[in-house]
Amino acid sequence: MCGIIGIVSQNQVQSHLIDGLKRLEYRGYDSAGIATVQDNQIHRRRSAGKLINLQNLVESEPIQGQIGIGHTRWATHGAANTENAHPHSSREVAVVHNGIIENFSDLKKHLQEKGYTFQSDTDTEVIVYLITDYLHQGNDPLTAVQKTLTKLQGAFALAILFKDAPDTLIATRHGSPLVLGIKENELFVSSDAVAFAPWTQQVCYLEEGDLAVLNAGDCFSYELYDRDGHKVDRPLRRSQITGESVSKAEYSHYMLKEIFEQPTVLSDTLQSLLNLENQKVSLKDIDLNWKMLNRIQIIACGTSYYAGLVAKYWFEKWAGIAVDVEIASEFRYRSPVMSSNTLNILISQSGETIDTLAVLSQLKEHGHQVLALVNVPESSIARKADYVLQTLAGPEIGVASTKAFTSQLMVLACLCLKTGKERDVIKPDVYESLVQALVSLPGMISYVLQNSEIYQKLALGFTTARNCLYLGRGITYPIALEGALKLKEISYIHAEGYAAGELKHGPIALVDLTMPVVVLAPYDEWFEKTLSNLQEVIARGAQLLCLTDQKGEEKIRQQIKAGYSMEIVVFPQVDTFIEPILYTIPVQLLAYYIALLKGTDIDQPRNLAKSVTVE
Ligand code: G6P
Repeated sequence: MCGIIGIVSQNQVQSHLIDGLKRLEYRGYDSAGIATVQDNQIHRRRSAGKLINLQNLVESEPIQGQIGIGHTRWATHGAANTENAHPHSSREVAVVHNGIIENFSDLKKHLQEKGYTFQSDTDTEVIVYLITDYLHQGNDPLTAVQKTLTKLQGAFALAILFKDAPDTLIATRHGSPLVLGIKENELFVSSDAVAFAPWTQQVCYLEEGDLAVLNAGDCFSYELYDRDGHKVDRPLRRSQITGESVSKAEYSHYMLKEIFEQPTVLSDTLQSLLNLENQKVSLKDIDLNWKMLNRIQIIACGTSYYAGLVAKYWFEKWAGIAVDVEIASEFRYRSPVMSSNTLNILISQSGETIDTLAVLSQLKEHGHQVLALVNVPESSIARKADYVLQTLAGPEIGVASTKAFTSQLMVLACLCLKTGKERDVIKPDVYESLVQALVSLPGMISYVLQNSEIYQKLALGFTTARNCLYLGRGITYPIALEGALKLKEISYIHAEGYAAGELKHGPIALVDLTMPVVVLAPYDEWFEKTLSNLQEVIARGAQLLCLTDQKGEEKIRQQIKAGYSMEIVVFPQVDTFIEPILYTIPVQLLAYYIALLKGTDIDQPRNLAKSVTVE
């Protein structure tokens, strides 16, 4: 969602602000803007639509200044137009804002009564006039911001410039993340270390409620204050994100690059969890009473929720434990009946999704233990959870999650094996063979990727489709859901994932000659049943794409009536345990190549955001 960048430098900042915003584009946005202070005046440029519009604007009307803020806005309050784009400003201050000010309408009314005139429909503008009002009352910038913060309700992050304090940038975090980047003679602040990755790896994550004052002047320095206004120190860290890790390399899209990175990141993730000497899953820091566990509750959103659905099949079958999988935005407003001896697992690639974070707070308030599975170890969810397991997917820039999803699956598979072993549910030989199956996965995925041109050809059959159905049974059912989600996210073709057994309970009414149906049918314990569903689809003349293995192909060819044409893609025969990870790759590639043919904005699909930090 929205992205913030702030820079205090000895050089002109306009071009770095735009570069930083470019690296935040992946979060999803619909307008952008920058502001600087120069000659005791605030200068501002804003544009609706993509960043290129802002770039064109600043090329023709550049702004000067060695201190500046920038923003990519994902519209919440007010349309995605130039008036509502950030920074918002008065004569005295300019503000960029992530998140939502929940009490903005009361504040706005109060400020209007005081004579302030609002230029936009945003909630952000109340912050501008509150700070301005406190400055008018004779407060210094720090006090004006601190007093303003006491009036604001909601989850947000801010970066602020002051006309009369041209060396000072103030940033503060209340529910939305912020990180400082530190370099000699240059300081950065951003919602994401990706924004300044090419310039510095030395970072400092703000804690909840922190306020940072960045100063230029004689030397570049910063001061941090906690939520009570006390000066604090926070640790400096070295960010893993480098300029290289956020480049597209030779790929046409980040999504394609990230799909092709999967063999490496899955291997890295597995190696981080396996003791290489004895090939046993070792989760050193997770000190749980595994035998006492009687239930697992997995809570997540979007693709991460689908990873949880796969885990349900794994844990029930191989660890003998009951699993509930919950959508965070529903769970947080229900009255769930919690039992002791439940392991709560929250999954979130970003570690910042607002609903998942809210569930975490609720669970902690009620004294429940939480294990978080995240891709960003410094994220809010990771920092609040009792235990953290990390996926080593590296930065994922494409909005549609690919490598983060399969890495989540890899961690959950290992956690399942560990649970099964500790609870004496899984037989040693089965355990060994499943570990070996996981070890073999990166190689198999490489094989599937080497043959990616298959999906380019198959994609041709989908471009005119208006609807598409994905079917799976058993452990591939969640992958049918994920396949449909990928397709709708990036190609804008309406797609539904269904449990194949549910076909007759509704979706079959939609099946006709124009409807492509993708069936995930490896030759496993559910295969014969899926084959019957396949027949039902064939009987209605649908365009069928069947993803299976060699045995599955033989069976399908024996049973399907001659003359019916369907596409079959054959995968290596694998243990059922790893099927969900392997069969994710073709549905990702298919969605990618269909979207490519449709000419959509694959890395930044319309209306979507990578990190959903507002409800
Ligand atoms: C957004 C992203 C998805 C992601 C979901 C949950 O919708 O576009 O890719 O699956 O949020 O995000 P999380 O970071 O919690 O996994």
